[in-house]
Amino acid sequence: MAGQGRMMSATTAADGTAEDGAVTNEAGRVAVGPADDAAGVPAARLLTLAPVRAEGRGALAPLPGWAQPCDSQGAPLASTLRLFEDGREIGPAHALHAEIREHGRGRYSHWDGHVLFSASDDSSPLTNGRSYQALWSPPTLEATLRVAIQAARSECPMSALERRTLLRQVTPLIDPDFVPPDGGRAVETDAGLRAEFRRFFPDNLNTLDRKFAVRELCRLISGLPGDVAEVGCYTGATAWFIARHIVESGVPRTLHLFDSFQGLSAPGERDGSAWKAGDLSAGIATVRRNLGDFPFVALHPGWVPERFPDVADRRFALVHIDVDLYQPTRDAAAFFYDRLVPGGLMICDDYGFDTCPGATAAIDDVMAGKPEPVVGLSAGGCFIQKR
Ligand SMILES: C[S@@+](CC[C@H](N)C(=O)[O-])C[C@H]1O[C@@H](n2cnc3c(N)ncnc32)[C@H](O)[C@@H]1O
Repeated sequence: MAGQGRMMSATTAADGTAEDGAVTNEAGRVAVGPADDAAGVPAARLLTLAPVRAEGRGALAPLPGWAQPCDSQGAPLASTLRLFEDGREIGPAHALHAEIREHGRGRYSHWDGHVLFSASDDSSPLTNGRSYQALWSPPTLEATLRVAIQAARSECPMSALERRTLLRQVTPLIDPDFVPPDGGRAVETDAGLRAEFRRFFPDNLNTLDRKFAVRELCRLISGLPGDVAEVGCYTGATAWFIARHIVESGVPRTLHLFDSFQGLSAPGERDGSAWKAGDLSAGIATVRRNLGDFPFVALHPGWVPERFPDVADRRFALVHIDVDLYQPTRDAAAFFYDRLVPGGLMICDDYGFDTCPGATAAIDDVMAGKPEPVVGLSAGGCFIQKR
């Protein structure tokens, strides 16, 4: 996509033509004209492109000097230019020049005072008789995001690499602290994992990376004795992945699930303000239905730690703690740490999240003075392996 590979091979003088007028697009009729507003913010302007020569499937057109900023190596999403072919918006914007020259299909790039663009059907913009207009807008965040969204939705399908590059460039504009992951990781390409996850969460992929982490960590317990447990199971999504591991490993174990089935208990003073009592409530019937294929699941409804005595005499190869708050996390970590077999795992889903300061503090409090390190995971959460 943008950045590397977008260097203009010619420097024709810029002399594009500004026009008063308007353009109709999916957002409605956009009035444009040369006058700046009272605050001095330049008005949007519509330009008719006058291509000067072909470049592969594309054509190169100069723009007037005021049509800034262009994209550049250091600012590959800087341009807010939108392109219209006979009044119909084309794209994606911010395309690599090699992609425009070789694949065309409406891709374009605003770079170094020019637009390198292609026709939607790969005919030559120099001879196809169509008019090409560029809508320049002041470089606001909204305008930048609008162009990026249009690029992602354009009729010309972006490659996976183009999409991911765009995503990596856009996210820091919205949140400079967000760490965009490299694309193409197993958690993104594992179609089976995704289909399984969507059974629980059809509308989004939030927390899929943590389910992936649990699924992978389960491999560490294959040779260990003991039961497994989850404290805070909600609708049973993580439990489902743990249950599937039990089936696949061939090691018979009971999967104990502890939950109020009435949502979170009341947050305490260490829990911050992200949660309130009753959040994340799922009924026990839902969990029974979702885990109905696994006869080794034992449900223990009640507030933590009321039902822990049910398993006081058991040993555990793995416990997954996911109750978001200080007190139940602390109660669960203290109880199950003592019952983990050597090599067994304690995973806390909430560890390290700024929405769950209580859960983080609870793990740190329980593990203080113990020999095992608390190992943070990049997807969020942590695990401890019992010595
Ligand atoms: C974040 S959800 C669990 C998500 C689940 N592990 C999954 O993977 O989908 C938190 C769960 O903890 C339960 N919970 C919170 N506080 C609790 C408490 N004090 N006692 C029992 N259950 C509690 C809630 O009912 C809720 O189902």
